[in-house]
Amino acid sequence: MTTIRAVHTAPSDVNLVSVRLATAADVDAIKVVVDENVALGHLLPRTRENIAASIGNWLVAEVQGRVVGIGSLLEMGPALVEVRSLAVLPEYRRYGVGGEIVKSLVEEAQRRGYPTVFALTRAVGFFERLGFVVTEHERFPEKVWRDCVLCPLKDRCDETAVVIEFATRHNTAHGEGK
Ligand SMILES: CC(C)(COP(=O)(O)OP(=O)(O)OC[C@H]1O[C@@H](n2cnc3c(N)ncnc32)[C@H](O)[C@@H]1OP(=O)(O)O)[C@@H](O)C(=O)NCCC(=O)NCCS
Repeated sequence: MTTIRAVHTAPSDVNLVSVRLATAADVDAIKVVVDENVALGHLLPRTRENIAASIGNWLVAEVQGRVVGIGSLLEMGPALVEVRSLAVLPEYRRYGVGGEIVKSLVEEAQRRGYPTVFALTRAVGFFERLGFVVTEHERFPEKVWRDCVLCPLKDRCDETAVVIEFATRHNTAHGEGK
């Protein structure tokens, strides 16, 4: 009997991926990745205008000038920020790119002085490996009132809240667009 296995071949340039803050020039590339994942039910929609207005809060993973992964920070309050719109192009998944984006987002959140970073996710193990712990949605009423009340899945939410906290605020200068 012949066994056929899917062979997952790493893109040859996966070692060249680097994560950086996004710029206005990245808006269209970010929108492409967002839209692809919205269609698959992974991400909430973001308009081009919304991405452009918040571009200072996005990070991109790039390889040879191509955006292969994205993630953003959304301030929920002076001490609370959400990791959202996290996605990696399918062919670059499972090589650590998503993990590097989250680590960079958490570092950026720390640098901006947020003591608490959270996400609502189905990729619980992925976030746990990065130091997040599972918590209750109710800990984040800012999120519930801002986004969850508008969500068609609000009464049967299948996402888990995960959080990472830091003991002290490092600074208060963040001044980016929301
Ligand atoms: C989640 C995502 C960003 C991870 O990116 P990545 O580059 O593959 O991340 P890494 O390589 O650092 O880590 C991959 C690990 O996360 C795990 N993981 C990814 N998605 C997961 C999910 N939905 N549930 C549980 N684990 C998940 C993978 O199984 C893998 O672990 P393994 O190698 O032990 O099997 C990517 O899978 C993605 O773009 N998914 C679609 C968009 C999405 O769901 N975004 C929402 C996340 S809040």
